[in-house]
Amino acid sequence: MEDRIPVITVDGPSSSGKGTIARLFAQELEWHFLDSGALYRLTALAAERHAIPFDDIEGLETLAAHLDVQFISDDEKGATRIFLEGEEVTDVIRSEVCGNRASMVAAVGPVRAALLDRQRAFRQAPGLVADGRDMGTVVFPDAELKIFLTASLEERASRRYQQLKDKEGSVTLGALYQELAQRDDRDKARAVAPLRPAEGAVTIDTSGIGIEEVLAKVRQLWAQAVDEKNSKRQGRA
Ligand code: DC
Repeated sequence: MEDRIPVITVDGPSSSGKGTIARLFAQELEWHFLDSGALYRLTALAAERHAIPFDDIEGLETLAAHLDVQFISDDEKGATRIFLEGEEVTDVIRSEVCGNRASMVAAVGPVRAALLDRQRAFRQAPGLVADGRDMGTVVFPDAELKIFLTASLEERASRRYQQLKDKEGSVTLGALYQELAQRDDRDKARAVAPLRPAEGAVTIDTSGIGIEEVLAKVRQLWAQAVDEKNSKRQGRA
């Protein structure tokens, strides 16, 4: 157990800033990064492309189990390019429509189970920062540090609006607010792996605070976790 590969989980609702924070902290530590939401978005996109309806549970499960995806990190930009069946879909899967569809396929238990091993395979030396909804509760329950990021619905809708307004001309703040509220409800209410803070998770409310401030807090929490781990080790030696 002592020498297992360390994991930091960052869970929370859409647009809480968790993706940005998790990615930046992974870069800072020079660790691997898992964007688990991308796997649900890819499953939703593949379902659409293969005309598999959301009520075809077996079809969705098979699709998720055999998803042909590649994550290729673009070191110069610090970004990851994502491919589905050989075609680049990095931007396609970021649309609101795809996010909403992802939330629907994510409520299907067998789809979640089919994606479990694929997510755990990202745990590679020297460490992993994992971003999602159930990273700390289900996928990596033994993580060294668990963080739950939140922000008010108003703030999240406004952040999302700023991100999308140039890309998706038709978005309105009101519609985004409604969509986020619906997606939150669906992610929290589902029977399998609902969105909630893991036991022992530290919750950070990012409303009104900038990325650097959140990152500083995460850095401090990680330093504290490392200290605690070292003193436990010394206590045992
Ligand atoms: O983080 P995101 O917006 O890319 O996630 C898209 C959807 O996928 C989200 O509405 C819920 C689902 N999801 C999930 O259920 N479990 C995860 N670990 C990550 C995402």
